[in-house]
Amino acid sequence: MAFEPQFFPVVKTSDIDPGKCASYMIEEHDILIAQTKGGDFYAMQNMCSHANAKMDTGRIRGNHIMCPLHGARFDLRDGSHGPPAFSPIKVFELRVVDDMVEVFIEGPPEKKPVSAMGMF
Ligand code: FES
Repeated sequence: MAFEPQFFPVVKTSDIDPGKCASYMIEEHDILIAQTKGGDFYAMQNMCSHANAKMDTGRIRGNHIMCPLHGARFDLRDGSHGPPAFSPIKVFELRVVDDMVEVFIEGPPEKKPVSAMGMF
């Protein structure tokens, strides 16, 4: 059966504190959901584009999250990056319905080769 792009309910808003994030497996996607201290929720792939570190232990400052391994900053709103990362992180559309965070999944994750930077 073909995959139907749709919003998936993931977590209650009260389960993620402001300035914190957590990761969830949604239809084979490892996704980080963050709440900024300003109360905005964002969803992005839970893997740094630099050397494949998990991002869910990264620090959140404003609308950015910092990779815990080498410190690249990513904008939670659009996935754009700073050094030492070379490319952005995929972000997912998100909505809040009542008190539930829902993430839009278009389809199965792309299968990519592991980054050559993984040796750092
Ligand atoms: S793995 Fe994230 S900055 Fe290097």
